[in-house]
Amino acid sequence: MSFYEEHCLPHLIHCACGQKIIQRQRAEIVPVAEGRVLEVGMGSALNIPFYDPDRVELVWGLEPSPAMRRKAHKNLRQAPFEVQLLDLPGEEIPLDDHSVDTILLTYTLCTIPDWRVAMQQMRRVLRPGGKLLFCEHGAAPDARIRKWQNRVNPLWKKVAGGCNLNRPIPELIETGGFSIQSLDSGYLPGPKFAAFNYRGIAKPA
Ligand SMILES: C[S@@+](CC[C@H](N)C(=O)[O-])C[C@H]1O[C@@H](n2cnc3c(N)ncnc32)[C@H](O)[C@@H]1O
Repeated sequence: MSFYEEHCLPHLIHCACGQKIIQRQRAEIVPVAEGRVLEVGMGSALNIPFYDPDRVELVWGLEPSPAMRRKAHKNLRQAPFEVQLLDLPGEEIPLDDHSVDTILLTYTLCTIPDWRVAMQQMRRVLRPGGKLLFCEHGAAPDARIRKWQNRVNPLWKKVAGGCNLNRPIPELIETGGFSIQSLDSGYLPGPKFAAFNYRGIAKPA
């Protein structure tokens, strides 16, 4: 791992993901989580303050990056429920079939290298009737913006830890065997090529 990836990137991700506008998105979706929750790509644990402690039994925080797990400690100390960190990627979820009530995916599907395998793994561990909550940036609906997303993506991916600007998030979720129950999408403030947001709830199809 390079010096940039080890020391600079975790801080940059923490700051970018901690912006007020992103925190407002978290406030809309995280409190819906209930029961045994799996957070895929927990990052610096910025979702922790937004969970409803009366609804959550346990959170598994899956996060493959040691540097991000270290960055998470401050928020994890404040959790009023049990959190178990899992040091593996979304492609290798170490949980039993149907053992999870809610999966939470915030600004992570853009980064997971083998998203198909990761979605299959999420589908496997989620119980029938369970919920997949998602809040992700991705492909914009406007052709002109999408063109820029495709142009900028190779460079962006290098500096942003493997993040892709142009993934069609609802398509990825449905390809993974989920049916989308509700979806809010639109541009957040900021440069349009990085600001198209998808927030919603899906269930196993
Ligand atoms: C932009 S951050 C978002 C973190 C957090 N979900 C949030 O909302 O603040 C993306 C996270 O995905 C993690 N990640 C990278 N590859 C992954 C993979 N294969 N499976 C799960 N998470 C991954 C990164 O280490 C990083 O912490």
